[in-house]
Amino acid sequence: MQLFVKCNMMHLTLKVETSMEATLMTVQTSVAAVQSTPLADQFSCKDEALINDWHVVGFSKDVVPGKLVPVRLLGRDLVLWRDAAGQVHLWEDLCIHRGARLSKGWIEKDTVVCPYHGWRYDGTAKCVLIPSAPGETPPAKARAFPHKAVESCGFVWASLGDPQHDVPFFPEWNDAEFRKFHAGPYFYQANGFRSVENFIDATHFPFVHAGLNGVQDSPDRIETYEVYEDPGLGLRTSEIVVFQPYGDHRQVPVKAGYTYRCFRPLTAYFSKRVEVADPNSKHKSKPTDRFCTFMTAQPVDEVSCIIRLGVAINFAPELTEEDILRRQDIVFEQDRIIVETQRPERIPIDLRMELHHRTDRLGQAYRRWLGSLGIHYGTI
Ligand code: FES
Ligand code: CO
Repeated sequence: MQLFVKCNMMHLTLKVETSMEATLMTVQTSVAAVQSTPLADQFSCKDEALINDWHVVGFSKDVVPGKLVPVRLLGRDLVLWRDAAGQVHLWEDLCIHRGARLSKGWIEKDTVVCPYHGWRYDGTAKCVLIPSAPGETPPAKARAFPHKAVESCGFVWASLGDPQHDVPFFPEWNDAEFRKFHAGPYFYQANGFRSVENFIDATHFPFVHAGLNGVQDSPDRIETYEVYEDPGLGLRTSEIVVFQPYGDHRQVPVKAGYTYRCFRPLTAYFSKRVEVADPNSKHKSKPTDRFCTFMTAQPVDEVSCIIRLGVAINFAPELTEEDILRRQDIVFEQDRIIVETQRPERIPIDLRMELHHRTDRLGQAYRRWLGSLGIHYGTI
């Protein structure tokens, strides 16, 4: 008889052999190399489409040298830090010695110091000092568990696997005609996909953003629009035109033409063509006036997320960053209140589970797309 026992932290195989003749039981043990992910990940996301994608886990400006930033992504606890050379690192928030949280420690001499027994890990994730044995070289297995982290468009992006796509790019980021700002973070006790779907939904404006992005007593009729799926590039729509009484930060009524894109399941975008509505003030807008928003949702777990935005504007230079952010904060707080009430919390991707209307075409395509990508985490 052979009995194999496996545990998650290390592949420990006990092979127990018995035979009729044998009077002795021999027990062989073999310890294979420690696997690359620690025990703590057992309840987190397993969907390859999400594991192998890039997710925003912070603004670059918030990750300063000398500071450990705890991060939660797809049900995993991680720690983010920046070394003295400016490189960002994202590791499991776990010390291999006894499982203490590294984020509760500190940074000293460009190493992360575990708060429990003071083991120190350098930027290559290697343990370089065990204080109880200061003259000894730490064993090779004494390492942190690193993940991929890069910076782009002012965000820190992380992948827990092998990314199959480039990091999504904010189209206006390098366009000198646009002023760029970051807004958020907005903490939603709501599913990331429901939050993205809210962002790409033009029919909620007159109700959730009454007086700002729509008029409750006179909702816009949404004409049929097109949704395109470009292989590898996600979803995009044709233009959807609505009237907005306070459609941008100048507080003037505008005709707004939204073109949406979903770059990745948790990274969306719109470009809004802005035209001052008052026929006597047409001269106040140019056909090229655009307000663009690049929206990222960090999937903390299946039912909570953190929204961070990039916004770009190529008109109204008199608007200050404060003017811009004030309006973003109002709008995303209005959305939060509604999205947090949605049930079931995890987005249903079986289209029969909720009722879809002609005007929800992008939402339907989004759910179908999530299904086609094989996403189960955060969905039902
Ligand atoms: Fe980290 Fe012991 S648990 S040094
Ligand atoms: Co909204």
